[in-house]
Amino acid sequence: MQQIWIQKAGPPEVLKVQDGPDPIPRSGEVRIRVEAAGVNFADILGRLGIYPDAPRLPYVPGYEVSGKIDLLGQGVPDFREGDAVSALTRFGGYSNVVCVPYRQVYKRLDWMSAQDGAAIPLTYLTVYMMLVVMGSVRAGDKVLIHGAAGGVGLAALDLCRILGAETFGTASPEKHDFLLSQGLSHAIDYRNQDYERAVMNLTGGKGVHVVLDPLGGVHWPKNYRLLMPSGRLIHFGASSLATGKRRSLWSVFRGMVMLPFYTPLKLMNDNKAVIGVNLGHMWEQAEMMRPWMKQIIAWYDEALFRPKIDRTFSFAEAAAAHHYMQDRKNIGKVLLLP
Ligand SMILES: NC(=O)c1ccc[n+]([C@@H]2O[C@H](COP(=O)([O-])OP(=O)(O)OC[C@H]3O[C@@H](n4cnc5c(N)ncnc54)[C@H](OP(=O)(O)O)[C@@H]3O)[C@@H](O)[C@H]2O)c1
Repeated sequence: MQQIWIQKAGPPEVLKVQDGPDPIPRSGEVRIRVEAAGVNFADILGRLGIYPDAPRLPYVPGYEVSGKIDLLGQGVPDFREGDAVSALTRFGGYSNVVCVPYRQVYKRLDWMSAQDGAAIPLTYLTVYMMLVVMGSVRAGDKVLIHGAAGGVGLAALDLCRILGAETFGTASPEKHDFLLSQGLSHAIDYRNQDYERAVMNLTGGKGVHVVLDPLGGVHWPKNYRLLMPSGRLIHFGASSLATGKRRSLWSVFRGMVMLPFYTPLKLMNDNKAVIGVNLGHMWEQAEMMRPWMKQIIAWYDEALFRPKIDRTFSFAEAAAAHHYMQDRKNIGKVLLLP
């Protein structure tokens, strides 16, 4: 087996490929020969040493893979050796062989490529939970998507298009043409203009129904202000704390002192809802997520969306993959191929 380890907190070069014996699936697990593994921003935060959910270093990051089952543990129903699957991995996805509880594994459609299979699980389930399950987005709702050109951002745009929502997306300006071609209603250059003012101008001062906030820090109060009455603010990340290729404790501290404090009274009087989503804490709820994934796969089957895969990197190029995302070059998903 080959795995990519985060040896210690630091720049992308701390990612190292190591060989080891193939793991044996435990009871209730399947073993997957990985064909593609998704790279997520959480992996970068983990590498920087500022991801609270990460195990103790050193560890193998990675939240999603696709591949073929090559060995079944005891007591695994419904799956067979040779099945093409996608899976959620709570770490360990940067591997060419991984064992996963079968409840976190989903059969791939015959016509779903391995790369699409690796780009969907964490990304689209997170977005489904935010927009459909908790955000109750309906046709005509106005939704602000930060990082609209990223893996999660483009998935949010896909689901908003399916749901019939009007979309406001922040992204670096060179990504706007692509976003508009994908159906984004309003592209906002947040790097050269204040997005709060831009959204208010575009909505005649009314704000939006839903904000997806992966940024955190100074953005928490800004995004709350952007909600119209009945609006839902969904916190799901803190990428603004990643200010460079190495950890900055000052940035983390500055971000944390911006933590907003929403009292029940304030929420009542403002008629606003604040929601938190962390798919990494849903592993025990695999049965709850199964129908969500079924709907996502049905939409894929109907060709209502395809994940946008920007670039693939070999395992040996894992550091380059992290540089690529942190340099804000990606439009869509970045994958590692064993
Ligand atoms: N809570 C959950 O369950 C969950 C699940 C998945 C992802 N997330 C969160 O969702 C967000 C997006 O994740 P992703 O994996 O799809 O990543 P991604 O958006 O593809 O990440 C890279 C992009 O983020 C933007 N960006 C914003 N701030 C950045 C910074 N400080 N450094 C570098 N790039 C920055 C850049 O786009 P622009 O140039 O256009 O700004 C960059 O191209 C992250 O905050 C992640 O932690 C949360």
